[in-house]
Amino acid sequence: MSEEINYSKPLLFEIAWEVANKVGGIYTVIKSKTPVTATEYGERYCLIGPLSWKTAPMEVEEITEIPSEPLKGTLDSMRENGVRFLYGRWLIEGAPAVLLFDISSCRNRMDEWKGDLYKISGIPSPSDDFETNDAIVFGYIVAWFLGEFSYRLYSKKNRVPTDMQLSNPHQLSSHHQLIHPVNVKPSVYSSYHVSNRPLIIAHFHEWLAGVALVLIRKRNLDIATIFTTHATLLGRYLCAGDVDFYNNLKYFDVDSESGKRQIYHRYCIERGAAHCADVFTTVSHITAYESEWLLKRKPDGVLPNGLNVVKFSAIHEFQNLHATAKEKINEFIRGHFYGHFDFDLDNTLYFFTAGRYEYRNKGVDMYIESLARLNYKLKHSNSNMTVVAFIIMPAATHSFTVDALKGQAVMKQLRQTVADMQESIGKRILSSAARGSLPDPSNLLSDEEMIVLKRRIYALKRDSLPPIVTHNMADDAHDPILNHIRRVRLFNAPSDRVKIIFHPEFLNSNNPILPLDYEEFVRGCHLGVFSSYYEPWGYTPAECTVMGVPSITTNLSGFGCFMEEMITHPADYGIYIVNRRTCSVEESVEQLANCMFDFTKKTRRQRINQRNRTERLSDLLDWKRMGIEYQKARWVAVLRKWPEISSLENEEEDDQNLNNLDEQSLPDEQTMSEGEETILGRKIRKVPRPPSAPGSPRILESFSEQEFDTWKEMSKTEGVHDSIIDDLKRLNVSGQQNYLDNYDDD
Ligand code: UDP
Ligand code: G6P
Ligand code: GLC
Repeated sequence: MSEEINYSKPLLFEIAWEVANKVGGIYTVIKSKTPVTATEYGERYCLIGPLSWKTAPMEVEEITEIPSEPLKGTLDSMRENGVRFLYGRWLIEGAPAVLLFDISSCRNRMDEWKGDLYKISGIPSPSDDFETNDAIVFGYIVAWFLGEFSYRLYSKKNRVPTDMQLSNPHQLSSHHQLIHPVNVKPSVYSSYHVSNRPLIIAHFHEWLAGVALVLIRKRNLDIATIFTTHATLLGRYLCAGDVDFYNNLKYFDVDSESGKRQIYHRYCIERGAAHCADVFTTVSHITAYESEWLLKRKPDGVLPNGLNVVKFSAIHEFQNLHATAKEKINEFIRGHFYGHFDFDLDNTLYFFTAGRYEYRNKGVDMYIESLARLNYKLKHSNSNMTVVAFIIMPAATHSFTVDALKGQAVMKQLRQTVADMQESIGKRILSSAARGSLPDPSNLLSDEEMIVLKRRIYALKRDSLPPIVTHNMADDAHDPILNHIRRVRLFNAPSDRVKIIFHPEFLNSNNPILPLDYEEFVRGCHLGVFSSYYEPWGYTPAECTVMGVPSITTNLSGFGCFMEEMITHPADYGIYIVNRRTCSVEESVEQLANCMFDFTKKTRRQRINQRNRTERLSDLLDWKRMGIEYQKARWVAVLRKWPEISSLENEEEDDQNLNNLDEQSLPDEQTMSEGEETILGRKIRKVPRPPSAPGSPRILESFSEQEFDTWKEMSKTEGVHDSIIDDLKRLNVSGQQNYLDNYDDD
């Protein structure tokens, strides 16, 4: 923040464990959303997180002179009291201010704070749960900062607010009603009328940042708060075990279940945070439902995750990027399979799954099972296709295996030898052509060169099969992924049409064997497979979509459900959604195997078309559209905290919108046509089938010019991709079927 901060407008603090600290998807939420939030709040936006001395210097540029009050006074006073922090700019698009607190600088107060937390809220904390200890210390520092900052801001005095007593957080619920502020005009959200005083909004993410919410409520700070949970602790734990989660959601004894899993104290923090916030939200409807039963507060709304969508100036640039990245993966494959490189890369497809190592929750069990069936189907249909299936999931390892390194080394030598020979052959051809004669093909390679080449080919021989795993695993014998691969006997044998590569580390471009960063790797692949059982949102398939890479997900993932809601036939756009909700495991596995098998039957041209269509969906996921839900949440939080504040010109409308959804306001399902659906009481139009997809006579033939105009107008409000609208327009106007057949092609 700088001197230009305008305190008569709302200030926004966003607090999360993953601010400038990459762990999983929450980092992606915060980072990718920053450009739109920074555009809205400018210098009045500041992110707060824990300080990691290892990663922060690479992510944050320090600002040593903190210019503006009350920020300077607050931080100076905290520093004098022993709190260490790093204040600066996060080096990402939007360059927001970040404040990272060093938890270790306050560990000496930990016991005092843990005791206090228990006293005021009844939340216990065992001494050996280091993560919870850190979450408590972080929570107290954040509450200290926000308390002192707000006090200085409002009263212009130098005093830290004092504590007050708080009852058990289980009793704190004050908002049980679900508010659907979905019909409000977007212009309303940023126009809160402020009556001569600044407003502070604090938005917290996930239980690790939740302790401060309990303290803010307890200390009655003048701050509007939002808590967004990106999962529930209990949901994650229950699903990872052997539990029929979704059919029993309503019946779990939450205290007992969390106690059995030794996470009762964490659960209390999460539930306390959910109940203490003015507004409670989640990232998908499926997690909202789960939260209602497990956290005992019905979320006020859903804030789906977006991405910072970057459009290329040349429409097909992303297709070129696919080709370049694929060539890099090809290089790796040649090395990895040396000695058994008996398949044709032109007829090879790259499938992958990636994410934190959650074997069951991320659906790796189903992925491997289905790959075994895919192998069988490919063999028995005499397919000429090979599928290389990657699993990118970090596990404990002792670096790369010698075999994995050797494969790349021998290929590198071979490549160098061939490059040298190319040069000398070129010289020989030039020299004989210059003398007016054709070169003798049998003399193009010298005897020495032949010997070197033979030696290189000899080095490619090996007795063992190409390895499954690229690293030495810390616990090879008990690794669930490896054991499953062993069970289904996918050993990269020459006869296997499905080859497996398990890379138990996240990717980066300094990787000695697969030197690509994650984004480049995804672009080079043909299909992402994310058969999750527990996935509140699931960024990995969403990221595939904006890069134009088709993906398989499930109707148990927030993303899968969102796409099902938005698109009439997601599969036409390369979004395949496996049913894991209403059928048996056996049926889901078969569905997934068939989906992958069908994909292998596509021609190159069809794959290119598919990628074009997938990429066209990216606007649906853009924060420019999704960010509106965050604005709504802030707006509701402000009105709840300070009911006297309202947007004057919209006063009447706001009241209406804050009224809960009642039965009468629901559109009549009978009168709705195909492609329309009600979501939270809002009638939405879905993205129709792509023009070149078969079927849908309604789209292909019966849309009148007038209907197009109406649809186009409506789609603009709903934020539907312009190019989809143009597809329809062009289709209708030209009315030429032949044109359509070729339309999607490169
Ligand atoms: N990811 C990554 N490198 C990898 C694999 C995954 O950076 O090699 C990132 C990916 O881009 C995504 C995040 O990890 O943003 C995973 O988020 P997701 O929401 O899918 O799952 P979570 O880990 O939050 O449960
Ligand atoms: C992109 C490139 C094409 C290339 C194709 C390969 O579309 O622009 O030049 O032929 O990728 O697609 P494939 O699905 O076979 O990797
Ligand atoms: C969590 C969820 C994941 C979600 C991410 C961001 O880590 O596991 O599904 O995408 O948060 O909301």
